[in-house]
Amino acid sequence: MSHSNADPICNTSDNTHFQDVLSSSLSHPDRRKFLLGGLGLSSLALLPGCVTMGASLPPPPSALGFTAVDKGLLDNVILPPGYQYTVLHATGDALNTKTPPYTNLGLETDDWSGRIGDHHDGMDIFYIDDKGQYSDKETLRAVLCVNHESSADAHFLHPQGQTSNGVNGKKFSQFGDWDLGKRPELEALKEINLHGISVVEIHKTSAGWRMDPSSNLNRRITPQTPMRISGPKEVIEAIRQQLITRWDTSGSMSRGTLNNCGHGKTPWGTYLSCEENWAMYFQTHANSNLTPNETASRKRYGLPFAAVASGVQKATGQGWHTVSNTDDRFARWNLAALGANAEKDFRHEANTFGYVVELDPLKPNETPAKRTIMGRLAHEAAVCGLPVAGESLAFYMGCDSRNEYIYKFVSAATWDPKDVGAGLVAGDKYLGEGRLYVAKFNADGMGEWLELTMSDPRIAQYGPFKFNSQADIYLNTRLAADAVGATPMDRPEWGAVNPRNGEIYFSLTNNSAANRTPAKVNAANPRAYTDVDGKKTSGNPNGHIIRFKEIGSRSTSKAFAWDIFLFGAEEDGGDANVSGLKASNSFSSPDGLWFSKATGICWIQTDDNAFTDETNCMLLAAIPGQVGDGGKFTVNNKMMVDGSLQTGSQDTFISATLGEAKLKRFLVSPKGAEVTGLTEADGGRTLFVNIQHPGELSPPVASGRPLESTWPGNQGVGPAGRPRSATIVITRQDGGLIGL
Ligand code: FEO
Ligand code: CA
Ligand code: CA
Repeated sequence: MSHSNADPICNTSDNTHFQDVLSSSLSHPDRRKFLLGGLGLSSLALLPGCVTMGASLPPPPSALGFTAVDKGLLDNVILPPGYQYTVLHATGDALNTKTPPYTNLGLETDDWSGRIGDHHDGMDIFYIDDKGQYSDKETLRAVLCVNHESSADAHFLHPQGQTSNGVNGKKFSQFGDWDLGKRPELEALKEINLHGISVVEIHKTSAGWRMDPSSNLNRRITPQTPMRISGPKEVIEAIRQQLITRWDTSGSMSRGTLNNCGHGKTPWGTYLSCEENWAMYFQTHANSNLTPNETASRKRYGLPFAAVASGVQKATGQGWHTVSNTDDRFARWNLAALGANAEKDFRHEANTFGYVVELDPLKPNETPAKRTIMGRLAHEAAVCGLPVAGESLAFYMGCDSRNEYIYKFVSAATWDPKDVGAGLVAGDKYLGEGRLYVAKFNADGMGEWLELTMSDPRIAQYGPFKFNSQADIYLNTRLAADAVGATPMDRPEWGAVNPRNGEIYFSLTNNSAANRTPAKVNAANPRAYTDVDGKKTSGNPNGHIIRFKEIGSRSTSKAFAWDIFLFGAEEDGGDANVSGLKASNSFSSPDGLWFSKATGICWIQTDDNAFTDETNCMLLAAIPGQVGDGGKFTVNNKMMVDGSLQTGSQDTFISATLGEAKLKRFLVSPKGAEVTGLTEADGGRTLFVNIQHPGELSPPVASGRPLESTWPGNQGVGPAGRPRSATIVITRQDGGLIGL
């Protein structure tokens, strides 16, 4: 979803910035020089006990092979000459043969659990062999998992938009204030169930990849789908008390998943779906008799504290709880302590969200698992480092809000390739026990993984929140990361792992003027400036992509070397255009990131509202080098702060400049959309891409005013009229490799 209104800054800890980073740097003189210059990371990787990566893959290409797409504001998917797309599925499409076709007029009377969800986001493909089993090799039959992130465009799902039946009549809200009228049950059901995950069988036909609505593998995971709370026994025992609800008084199950954003694919062949902005769906109350710990936790996770005005409780969330106090499908969205104890109400319901969810795409009747020990965050994605037999697995995860952190989970179990295809049994093995770390980026170009453990006195004796056990760390991970002094970043979005060398990339999509000024930058978040034209936003409005390499390429390493791969910028951005972008590859607000195993291309997707005066959001192709291939760089910052010009400079480390041959704009999206989710098939000859929330800035449908976008209906795909999120399938007309 677009985050213009949806990324509250909840990190008020003082884990900052320049002085900390500077003193840390001084305590490790020349560490980076030693590691990158003297001995060199590539040499390190060859030391005994270290591993080499990606040896079986062809080397990356030296240049991209397509003509860059111009910036643009058209209401269609624009591709380079010689490329074409079809729509695989779009919001509301039936995923079984019983559900009626989509009207695109809001006339559906079913509860949406038989339809493709809305706001397509993270996505991955799971191939099926001729015995019907999971295959880690490509075949012509697969299951595609797609996350459905948000109900921010829910007005498109109802005949006259969202209604409340309240005193204000048809009041429209996007995560705003309801007037405490009673929302219609069908509206609420559609809005709840449009979230979650679509699991859909697809086949390669002579006309390309097509969805199979008759497959018994097709499944909707929604916010109603029962899930088990998983983790080490002692953690589960401790955590249960804080997960008890009227729906499950044992606290061992959770109902459904929400705001599923980025994703991950495990080496054993399961899908990880990440719960991101779950905090905004709940009704809270001013007087909830919270303990000091509960108050600190709710604040840190951005759970709203609804005020009472003129004796009336102000409303938050989507108003779903207003449908019924007794039907748990609706009552659960109210966090008020209405009953005598936690077994009588839903005061703990928010504790059941914020996790990485694992499911086996080939087992439609199996209960998914919430992996508590990967932490509770605004989880953006969970990407696995390159698996090495006999070594632990590492999963890298971002927490998507301003000034949040990057995390790593390291499995206790070491990788055994025989577990490929073992489903959630393997999931329990690798994601059931391990260690959780948070990243600290130092000014010398090195970084540290700080373990989140009760044996660290900074956590055990933390003032703002009392951690009583390791379970508290998993439930309140942001607070534990505050305690150890992690580096607040410019909103960590997706991560991706370069399959050729194991390096890890993270999008830092942007940050606001409140957080970044020339006086409030650090080496890993070094820019603070005012956009030169058009929208004139300030802070780090165009974002950047950071990358890092574990020392020795080990999943268990406690240290890494980092540099900044790319800085988003307008081509006329002056000093802010550190990466030397031109009109053919200028971009803003990187979000989705994904590497093609087939071609080595790093695909970059944007979710922007700083460059949108000149161009819709986009997908770019990049051919990366490696950490350390550039060098030290001094960023010159210039920004209007409180009406006066503030300047400053910040030293950082940047990659070698890619230039126009190695970084090109490949796709420009329809109006109002972000580009998100990406995977490939046919050895890199087919690319699946998600287009999310076209027409996001449309007026409410009830207004009758023109919509910002009418894609894909305007291309003759599905019923015309309202815009719809979709998965598109991109191929080359000559059948060649995408991007080369
Ligand atoms: Fe769901 Fe961070 O985008
Ligand atoms: Ca601009
Ligand atoms: Ca410009």
